[in-house]
Amino acid sequence: MRTTVSLPAAWEIFKRYNSDAFHLQHAETVSLVMRWFAVDQGFGEESDYWAVVGLLHDVDFELYPREHCLKAPELLRANGVSEDVIRAVVSHGYGITVDVTPESQMEKILYAVDELTGLIWAAALIRPSKSVLDLETKSVKKKYKTPAFAAGCSREVIAKGAAMLGWDLDFLIDKTILAMRYWENNREVA
Ligand SMILES: [Fe+2]
Repeated sequence: MRTTVSLPAAWEIFKRYNSDAFHLQHAETVSLVMRWFAVDQGFGEESDYWAVVGLLHDVDFELYPREHCLKAPELLRANGVSEDVIRAVVSHGYGITVDVTPESQMEKILYAVDELTGLIWAAALIRPSKSVLDLETKSVKKKYKTPAFAAGCSREVIAKGAAMLGWDLDFLIDKTILAMRYWENNREVA
């Protein structure tokens, strides 16, 4: 069953457990990136649903970093979020804290883009424009191959995500840059 949680309600839930500006920005980024991918992948009628999953995916990270993806089900259930959303949220911790495999296209994309959006944003911030609008795959790829750059963004997860989707890395980066341009043009969180 698809969730009935609206995007404004998801924001309220997220903010109940998160106040750090970086976490709010990351939630909005992944939410809008997921919305872009829903349309891109032919799931336009589910774009709100993908956006809600993207928004909530790190709901437990700020308060329970050591129980990331383990605490989320309890927090989300307490707020009436449906099990399909909870499953999708938990699956992005696959191979890290949980053994729930990303199965749907939506889950695989969440897994693939979560870390990658961080890497792309870090690559954008060192440009004079501080923007993804003029950022190209080539420069992201160069940063990807530099382990010390945005070292917290797991290349292993990004590579695994691309493999799950059957996409090569360039294709994944191309699309995620486009998705992040959509975010940059539509963002509201400062
Ligand atoms: Fe995340």
